[in-house]
Amino acid sequence: MEKTLVLIKPDAFADGHSGDIIARYESEGFKIAALKLMMMTPAIAAKHYVEHIGRPYYEGLVEFMTSAPLIAMVLEGENVIKRVREINGATNPVNAAEGTIRKLYARDGSKNAVHASDSPSSAAREIAIFFSELEQF
Ligand code: CDP
Ligand code: MG
Repeated sequence: MEKTLVLIKPDAFADGHSGDIIARYESEGFKIAALKLMMMTPAIAAKHYVEHIGRPYYEGLVEFMTSAPLIAMVLEGENVIKRVREINGATNPVNAAEGTIRKLYARDGSKNAVHASDSPSSAAREIAIFFSELEQF
């Protein structure tokens, strides 16, 4: 079954939205295959956001993502990569559709509540950054 990496970013975790966000994914029919509360280190950030290195927002993004705990999880289900991106909504909540997680919970286009992998190759790469095989069920 297809898997994707989801992060509940430090803003949404600190704002107390983790339970509602996880409940939303479960209500859409996805299974949790791995989950943990952790700090993103600068080394993990550089791997996870490798394609963003050099962008004008990169340093601020890493500062934010390493500033406080986040929840990392692997979700599993049919078409989960595409469907979770739809449920999360557009990167900037100003552009996100009504009812999406980012519309509901994001603070702005950087502190935007959640991350989800954008393709099968990204999902495989990103899951391996956060979870060993033994941590996935
Ligand atoms: O997360 P998503 O795939 O929707 O967006 P992205 O374009 O891959 O960017 C990754 C993350 O970088 C975003 O989720 C934002 O947190 C951050 N970002 C930002 O702070 N400012 C931007 N102009 C673009 C992205
Ligand atoms: Mg992206």
